[in-house]
Amino acid sequence: MTTSGLFISFEGIDGAGKSTHIEGLAHAFRAQGRVVSITREPGGTPLAERLRTLVLNEPMDAMTEALLVFAARRDHVQNVIWPALGRGEVILCDRFTDSTFAYQGGGRGFDWQVLSVLEQWVQGTSVVRQGSEAIQVLQPELTIWFDLPAPVAAGRLVGARIPDKFESQPVAFFEQVAAGYAKRLEADPSRFVRIDSDQAPEVVWRDVVHAMQNKGLLPW
Ligand code: TYD
Repeated sequence: MTTSGLFISFEGIDGAGKSTHIEGLAHAFRAQGRVVSITREPGGTPLAERLRTLVLNEPMDAMTEALLVFAARRDHVQNVIWPALGRGEVILCDRFTDSTFAYQGGGRGFDWQVLSVLEQWVQGTSVVRQGSEAIQVLQPELTIWFDLPAPVAAGRLVGARIPDKFESQPVAFFEQVAAGYAKRLEADPSRFVRIDSDQAPEVVWRDVVHAMQNKGLLPW
């Protein structure tokens, strides 16, 4: 079992049902004696939470959205994620950069390459490797993708609460978001675990725990 800092992100279209499983994992890691923080994006710092309110509620073009979520991420990474990992803690993050590729890239059709450049700027630190300088880009050690057909997720959201800007998008938007997630998984398969979330919550939870055990992150 690792005792160094551990960064896990949770992804999926709106309505995929991440929250209860994030809480459950926090509990499981605390039972192992780990210090755990649950955080979220956009958000996780006072400044980033203010940017979240804008992104989720104000109409804006896709580039503005991308720049604001990356600005929020920069503040969050610098002030919360890097320091916590430096202290050897567990960070459970409700959405991270895969959401930007999925929503702004897939859903809104914003340029994937530009997002990759922003990702390198915002999450990069320069390191010296074999005498020359290189950029090391922060990524979660593990990303759990709660995958659910878009029509099923839409059905779950109906009447659940007042929808924000993204939640009120049509099913076709979420099909494109899901395609964005699939593209990210394809580019970095070892980081991802895809969980079939079109199952009863207790079955989804069992799959989440198995995935953690398979990765050596929780005991059998
Ligand atoms: P969500 O995480 O679903 O929170 P809640 O359960 O409180 O509604 O909402 C965040 C929304 O922000 C979600 O619709 C996805 C969107 N989002 C982006 O569009 N880009 C991003 O980079 C991130 C992190 C989120």
